[in-house]
Amino acid sequence: MNVLILGSGGREHALAWMISRSTLLETLYVAPGNAGTGSLCRNIDLQVNDFDGIATFCLKNSIDMVVVGPEEPLVRGIKDHFASEKELSGIMVIGPDRSGARLEGSKDFAKEFMKKYNIPTASYLAVTTDNIDEGKKFLGSLNPPYVLKADGLAAGKGVVILDDRREAEKELDDMLRGKFGEASSKVVIEEFLDGIELSAFILTDGKDYLLLPEAKDYKRIGENDTGPNTGGMGSISPVPFAGIEFMKKVEDRVIRPTVEGLQSEGIDYRGFIFFGLINIGGDPFVIEYNVRLGDPETEAILPRIKNDMLEILISAGRQELKRQKTDIDERHAASIMLVSGGYPGDYEKGIEISGLEDAAGSSSADNEAGTEIFLFHAGTKLKAGRIVTNGGRVLAVSSLSGSLDEALKRSYRAAAMISFEKMYYRRDLGKDLI
Ligand code: AMP
Ligand code: GLY
Repeated sequence: MNVLILGSGGREHALAWMISRSTLLETLYVAPGNAGTGSLCRNIDLQVNDFDGIATFCLKNSIDMVVVGPEEPLVRGIKDHFASEKELSGIMVIGPDRSGARLEGSKDFAKEFMKKYNIPTASYLAVTTDNIDEGKKFLGSLNPPYVLKADGLAAGKGVVILDDRREAEKELDDMLRGKFGEASSKVVIEEFLDGIELSAFILTDGKDYLLLPEAKDYKRIGENDTGPNTGGMGSISPVPFAGIEFMKKVEDRVIRPTVEGLQSEGIDYRGFIFFGLINIGGDPFVIEYNVRLGDPETEAILPRIKNDMLEILISAGRQELKRQKTDIDERHAASIMLVSGGYPGDYEKGIEISGLEDAAGSSSADNEAGTEIFLFHAGTKLKAGRIVTNGGRVLAVSSLSGSLDEALKRSYRAAAMISFEKMYYRRDLGKDLI
């Protein structure tokens, strides 16, 4: 099989690493990729939303499967684009079509879907300029803090949480007036849920699904969860507070009703679903759906999946997942994100990174049985033969080890061997759980 992965982050490097190990693989490409994917396979200079460019490349290079990393091409309908043209329609696209991608592309759609299929989530109201007064009344009926979400994709910035009701009302006006452009022409106001968050993942073929390892990510830039939100500063898997009983509730109350609901809606969904969950007193509630894998969760969960990734993706594409079973490594994974100084605000790019080889070899160096280190590149690129920074989130340092504590230690030890000017990472990951 010839496979093209779309995206350029740590998630895509982890996917590329895993697919590159498959015996079913012939040639692997990543577009646009990063220095990490470039060392594994061929990077192609194409942007993820350039559907025509991607289609032409696929035909020229006999691509059999396109694995879509980020949500935007899915929400914009890359699958529909491929399905609508005869010569492209035989290419498997891993990810939902536009109708399925609304689970992430429209908060209102996702909330309505959950309501219809009795999936536990926060109570809500969808507001446009036509019912602002009703929206303000709804705010009045809620206890603070107030959660306002732009309906559409807003580059991860469309959720605003405010303590003060007047501020929330003003924010509602601002959002409806275009604070997030078209994405906030509709706003979902939600009840605030107080609990501890985690991420659950499945690969589905629209009928059956494989439950992948769950993870917890760390979103804030500062230690002890302070400061602004980021794309994610690291993650761990498994999640200690998501035991067998809790995960059974997740499957019974959330995952199965979601897959069945999609089927009832006539949505042919073949791809990953990411359930953003919150555990409230032992019961799971859905905060959000994403129609892709998480980043940085992927960098912790993929090393724990022992299956041939390409084989299970093919099964998902052919609607034959029923025949597959997951094979999960019992070890713990911890992934630490190294970021550029200034991120998530302004930061410089093009800074040389050193120590990568030492870090990669740090588990075998002293022959630690049962420990493995993985370096997944995010914002990196190759410049004149050197690896330099090329984004806010630069590298994910992951490890697998016998306990969470050990995995964290290994990842931190490897992280400390890497350096670039103004490099920053959180040093408290997992401390809340040990
Ligand atoms: P979302 O983009 O929907 O995941 O929201 C971003 C973040 O806002 C989530 O990861 C939560 O930390 C927080 N959040 C979203 N909705 C709620 C809610 N109803 N109650 C509490 N926190 C929320
Ligand atoms: N880690 C959260 C996300 O991928 O959206």
